[in-house]
Amino acid sequence: MAMEYSEKVMEHFARPHNVGTIEDANGVGEVGNAKCGDIMRMYLKINDEEIIEDVKFQTFGCASAIATSSIATDMIKGKPLSEALNLTNKAVVEALDGLPAVKVHCSVLAEQAVKAAVADYYQRRGVPCPIDLDAFDHEHEHGEEE
Ligand code: FES
Repeated sequence: MAMEYSEKVMEHFARPHNVGTIEDANGVGEVGNAKCGDIMRMYLKINDEEIIEDVKFQTFGCASAIATSSIATDMIKGKPLSEALNLTNKAVVEALDGLPAVKVHCSVLAEQAVKAAVADYYQRRGVPCPIDLDAFDHEHEHGEEE
């Protein structure tokens, strides 16, 4: 059966925003989903005021993984770091006008990639990270059962 994608998903899949790498990124996160094998890498350039000056991504994965990465980067670009900390996969799905149920895990991957990059930023600065990535993994497993 053909999968129903929203126009927004198709737009971001066909012309994803913020694709690539940032050479002098100060936060880089890579996450993958063991079941589908998709991988996302997120690069953040965060300034002294903790504003996300630039964000780029590389996604080796399905159309939804590309669309969710693209919109997630749009949602945090130029925003304070707190926006990236509070980004949820639900907000990503809403911004894309929905995803088929079997593709919701792709949005989880986008949230996780952003948070892994933020965690890397804190780690590089030697500051305790406010994100518990282990807890997040746990949630992820449950999320997949939907
Ligand atoms: Fe796994 Fe899309 S099918 S991230």
